[in-house]
Formats: sequence, structure tokens, C-alpha cells
Amino acid sequence: MYKIAVIPGDGTGAEQVREGLKVLEAVSDKFNISFEKVSYDLGGERYLRTGEILPESVIEEFKGFDAMYLGAIGHPEVKPGILEKGILLKLRFELDQYINLRPVKLYPGIDTPIKDKGPEDINFVVVRENTEGLYAGAGGVLKKGTQDEVAVQESINTRKGVERCIRFAFDYCQKRKNKSTVTLCGKTNVLTYAFDLWERAFYEVGREYPKIKTEYAHVDAICMWMIKNPEWFDVIVTDNMFGDIITDLGAMIQGGMGIAAGGNINPQGVSMFEPIGGSAPKYAGKNVINPLAAINALSMMLETLGEYRAASMVEQSVIQVCVNELKSLAAGAMGHSTSEVGDLVVKYLQEI
Ligand code: IPM
Ligand code: MN
Repeated sequence: MYKIAVIPGDGTGAEQVREGLKVLEAVSDKFNISFEKVSYDLGGERYLRTGEILPESVIEEFKGFDAMYLGAIGHPEVKPGILEKGILLKLRFELDQYINLRPVKLYPGIDTPIKDKGPEDINFVVVRENTEGLYAGAGGVLKKGTQDEVAVQESINTRKGVERCIRFAFDYCQKRKNKSTVTLCGKTNVLTYAFDLWERAFYEVGREYPKIKTEYAHVDAICMWMIKNPEWFDVIVTDNMFGDIITDLGAMIQGGMGIAAGGNINPQGVSMFEPIGGSAPKYAGKNVINPLAAINALSMMLETLGEYRAASMVEQSVIQVCVNELKSLAAGAMGHSTSEVGDLVVKYLQEI
């Protein structure tokens, strides 16, 4: 029996999570695994209603779960930063989810905007450091609002934080089939303190994995090659900010936010899985959002729990839906409603 904390959150989050849980129900029947789900009301609605963002006691409760399943956080009536920092980043930090794992995989039947590239070319993962860098909140502001204003925002890179992230990337690479390269994405030509630390740690850790090839590329070049030669990549490891940026690019080449999922992983603790698109308020409540990203997040959750067969069959079912059923991955253009897409995944899952 697994204990799962469910956070539907804002906007379309609830609709996406609803379809994910539908699939989880089917997984439970098919594989005879039981899940105890506890739902948490966190997000913009609650904040506007009660002023509460994320009570400390809730963070403590999360530590008692096997995994967390998140819809989306972000509300148009709440000033940017409050919910992102107060909920999403706070959970990542407090639960020490130091890896943000983001697969970039083009499924058959899905259009990529890159001409002449197909599923055999686009299949890599980004291992993004998730608790440090520019996200750590170091810095401050002086003389705010005046002509003399000074704003400093520093990137924090600890040897421990960098090394454990890099080690995760090599371990993960070892488990992947076919390719076996880890590419460090940095900016050693300008960020000569931070990425010097990253580069040294990278090659030192890399020596412990003699079968894995190590490569280095600057982040700007990575953006170029992700479009020009995505087939070069297998596992990319990078810091928090670069990882944030290149994974939106990655989501686009795999078909968009409708399909892209990620895991905030603490290998020694509780991990949180989410579709990586936002709360998409303009589509909320209309039953038009694509739930496949959330269903992919569910598959990642199953994999992290060690339910490999279930995880892979959920992914296979998603692929079947992409190949046979959907007109497009975009919200409102799928040729099916949100709940119908969830039903279709369940149908294929039952047939496998
Ligand atoms: C993401 C998001 C978050 C991030 C925001 C919402 C704080 O863009 O998960 O990639 O920057 O990490
Ligand atoms: Mn992002």
C-alpha cells in the first residue's frame, strides 16, 4: 500500500490530476497495488480565501507519504512569486527534492516543430539541480524604488549539492538503454566560479563511471543543439536556472506542455511529480486541457516507487493514445475532452 499526497492546486490542475487518478485507479485494479490518497487544498484559491499559503504542519505531514502528486500552482489574482516561492519552491527546498528530472521524449504520432526529426532523434532527459543556484534566494535589495537602487541575486552552488546532482545523473544514465553519455550544461566561459566547481565535480564523479562518456557544452550552445541535433543528447545535467530554461525548450520539441512531465526527486525521501506546464487559467473548468502530461507524471511516480511494469504500461497506453486517437496535443484541439483522453488511456491500459 502506497500513501500518496495529492495537491490538485490551481487552474487546470484539478482536471489534470482527476484524469491521473483515474489512471491510477486502473493501475490499482490491473496490478493489484493499493494506493491511499490524501488530498491537500493548497494554492491560490486557498490563499485568497484564508491568507494561508503552506502551513509548516503540512510540510511535516508530507514527509510521511510515499509520493506526492501535484497539478499546478499559479493564480491570476495573486502577485507573481507568492505562490511559486511559498508553495512550489518551498516544497522542493523543505523536502530536499534536489533533483528535477525532466524527460524530453518525442512519442510516435506527435508532431515536433523540428523539421526532419522523429522519435528516434528526440529522447533524452534533463537532470536539473532543484534546491540551489539562483533559486536559493540569496541576495537583496538596497534603496528600493530610488534611482540608487541596487539589486543583487546570487547563485549558490555547494560542492555537496552539485556533486549529489551529478552523481544522480550518472546513476540515471547507467539505467538507460542504448546511449550512455552525460553532458554537463554550463557556462564555464563566463560563470568562472560556479561552473568551475560544477566542471571539476563533473569530471571527478565521471571517473567513477568509466563506461559513461562525458561531454561538456555551454548552455547557449545546448539551446542551439537541442534544435539542430537533439539526437546527440542522452542525459543532460545542469544547474537550477539553466535547467528551468532548457526544459521549456525541451517540452516544445517533444510536442508541448500538453505532454511534458517532471519529477522533483529526493532519492532518500518523498518525491513530487507534476505536469510541467502551468495552471493555464484560461482553460480552467472547460474540460479541454490535455491530461497526458499529468498522466506521464503519474508514470514517473510509479517508476520512482519501483513499480516499473505499471509505469511502463501507463507510458505505453499514453503512446497508444497519441498514435491512434489525438488530433493534436494542444488544449481544445485534441479532438477529445480532458475526461475522454483519460478514459482512452484507461481503455488502452486495460487492453495491454
Ligand atoms: C518550473 C516552473 C517553476 C520554476 C516556477 C513556477 C517557480 O517554471 O517548474 O519549471 O521556475 O522552477
Ligand atoms: Mn519552468
